[in-house]
Amino acid sequence: MAERNLPETSALMESMAYGPAPESPSPALDWIAEHGRFGCFVAGAFEEPGATFETRNPATGEVLAHVTQADADTVARAVAAARAALPGWAGATGHARARLLYAIARLVQKQAKLLAVLETLDTGKPIRESRDIDVPLAVRHFYYHAGLAQLWPEELPGHSPIGVCGQIVPWNFPLLMLAWKVAPALAAGNTVVLKPAEYTPLSALMFAQLCQQAGVPAGVVNIVTGDGDVGERIVAHDGIDKIAFTGSTEVGRRIRKITAGRGKALTLELGGKSPYLVFEDADLDSAVEGLVDSIWLNQGQVCCAGARLLVQEGIAASFYDKLKTRMRHLRLGDPLDKCTDVGAIVDPAQLARVTGMVAQGGGDVFQPCQAPGTGCFYPPTLITGLSPADRLMQEEIFGPVLVATTFRTPAEAVALANDTRYGLAASIWSETLPLALEVAPKLAAGVVWVNGANMFDAAVGFGGLRESGFGREGGWEGLTEYLRAPGGRPEAVPVTPGVVGPAPLDRTAKMFIGGRQTRPDSGESLLVRASGGQLLGHVGAGNRKDIRNAVEAARKAQPAWAGLSGHARAQVLYYIAENLSARSEEFTERLAAQTGAGDAGQQVARSLEALFACAAWSDKYDGRIKDVPMRGVALGFNVPVGVVGVLCPSVPALEGAITAMGAAIAMGNTCVLVAPETAPLSLTDFYQVLETSDLPGGVANIVTGRTVLAETLAGHLDVDAVWAFAPELGQAVEAASCGNLKRTWITPWPGRDLGPFLRAATEVRTVWIPWGA
Ligand code: NAI
Repeated sequence: MAERNLPETSALMESMAYGPAPESPSPALDWIAEHGRFGCFVAGAFEEPGATFETRNPATGEVLAHVTQADADTVARAVAAARAALPGWAGATGHARARLLYAIARLVQKQAKLLAVLETLDTGKPIRESRDIDVPLAVRHFYYHAGLAQLWPEELPGHSPIGVCGQIVPWNFPLLMLAWKVAPALAAGNTVVLKPAEYTPLSALMFAQLCQQAGVPAGVVNIVTGDGDVGERIVAHDGIDKIAFTGSTEVGRRIRKITAGRGKALTLELGGKSPYLVFEDADLDSAVEGLVDSIWLNQGQVCCAGARLLVQEGIAASFYDKLKTRMRHLRLGDPLDKCTDVGAIVDPAQLARVTGMVAQGGGDVFQPCQAPGTGCFYPPTLITGLSPADRLMQEEIFGPVLVATTFRTPAEAVALANDTRYGLAASIWSETLPLALEVAPKLAAGVVWVNGANMFDAAVGFGGLRESGFGREGGWEGLTEYLRAPGGRPEAVPVTPGVVGPAPLDRTAKMFIGGRQTRPDSGESLLVRASGGQLLGHVGAGNRKDIRNAVEAARKAQPAWAGLSGHARAQVLYYIAENLSARSEEFTERLAAQTGAGDAGQQVARSLEALFACAAWSDKYDGRIKDVPMRGVALGFNVPVGVVGVLCPSVPALEGAITAMGAAIAMGNTCVLVAPETAPLSLTDFYQVLETSDLPGGVANIVTGRTVLAETLAGHLDVDAVWAFAPELGQAVEAASCGNLKRTWITPWPGRDLGPFLRAATEVRTVWIPWGA
């Protein structure tokens, strides 16, 4: 037996080829089969299907589903539903909207696999991409915008939602482009009518179902399916206040014409012919890998694909060689195979467009891979020998086709790069940072990547210049595209507060140190009595040793915690909120019992809101770029202070502790909380929430005891900052802080505004870099 296998094994060692690793289409096909034919999603429900069209799997040509071609009445019903839902949604609090977006994010995440397979079946893109790029980025977008929903009402005073938004998305990233449009629109308080592309409507329909499950109020999200005519009906409808479009420049131009003078807000994210500049001092191997990601991601059907390679003359020959070698190893084929690099083109019409353009375009065509015999495939292609004015150098091909030419000097590189009517993105490859930073600001592009390509994130604005369109998606700048600035158009959106309430989200008291419940070192306990005097329980009487252990745990945890992305920290904070929310009644009762506070319920609700706000800020407390009088800029980063000791306020006991902890850890600090003497049991309950919320051990530590702990904490040399919400402790804390000159923040309870907390939780670190020429 073993002998018989030997030749096969040695052949395998020779080729080192991957075996097939197909992902099963069954769950996605079952989901489609459950529906049979799809109607549009209007006013919170799927309508009966009307006249339908087919959507096919481009890799096989098989029909996947029958989807409704919406007529004028459907569009009118969808716009009416969005209009009817607007006052309630616009009148909801930022927190209520944040909770809904969070619920959507969670559901998309829970259905990640199904959505990825559905997306691959419908678009032909490799499963590796839909699984690792499209779906996670969509999820990230909803999480991030849950945060913006929470923050903007306070951060952007006087702003208001725009109204009903018509959103039209293309077929290259159906779910991701939906997320880029729906998340900011909803966060801002708008309602939407979205049309997916006719080739790829399925993930949007599944998203509609997730909206139902998340409890999105009827009419806030409407999905109408169909072709360009349906898109045009949306564009032309008088009941639409804003159009957001991603697609071809040609259609974008038409939409601009139709909307001209009609008072509709408009953002256009259109085509591109983005340059990919490789200088002679670039790390050529990395530049080749970057190029693979740049032009062969999604078969090149990417608006910001690095479709024009510009290489410095001295290294052109060796770079082309390396690139050709890499191209020979690209695996073209079944999109559901996890080993596939390049999948199918979205539709025969697009395949014909790409094939036709290359056939008529001239140049030296290099196509090393064989396309499968059936299905909609086009091989990865490199074309050299063109002149800058040639059609293939100027026009968007929107397929796996790279055109290349050379340059001599940086100035020539810039001139060639900018020789286009587009201006979406650009990549610069050079190991000489000053060169890259000199060239970057000279490129006519909305996004410039240095030694990278196709990097996207919800926190960062994306969009173009020139004929690549206008407006930004992502970040605060993307959010403001969905908001009316103060003093803008007079008819503000009618607002009905309170219609949409917060969506429902999903014990011996010890101390909490290093992620573990620990008994007090002293073995001594303190009695906790109700405001009426009856005994409620006991907590440990912390001493120096407990504080030392807690600080040690916090110090150990701090580098890794600070090393996480703001997004990852936000996830944990949201999760803490979710788990606290599930126990809010219990926390309310416990707090009321200890303090007699009549506002215990509101305090728990405010604690939840504070957690949401801290989560929201985790990835948004950006630094600043300072304009300095030199050939450069100074970048001011907000970095964590380190280990923060918090003497929690007596009033508000729970909200105070949670807000301070939230702000500290959101910014990448770890903390030691000394529980308020007024309500220590609330904090010992709270560590049970922390334990179940994926918070790494040591990030938040809770010590109970008397206020004498204040001096110990303030004197500890490994604590970087002490916050005391009790001015009477000021003298003792400040005096004790002298040892390592730690930062102190002594204040009466500052209230709910997170600004002072975030400032106290961060230091500004400045980096000066050369920039521009
Ligand atoms: P397209 O721009 O026609 O389609 C994009 C979306 O717009 C689809 O949902 C479509 O139904 C809708 N649409 C079409 N005509 C419309 C109209 N008159 N009013 C409102 N909505 C309308 O793109 P198409 O025809 O599928 O592809 C053609 C070329 O466009 C591609 O070869 C590529 O060059 C470019 N393209 C660029 C994209 C980008 O992200 N920059 C995305 C898709 C296509």
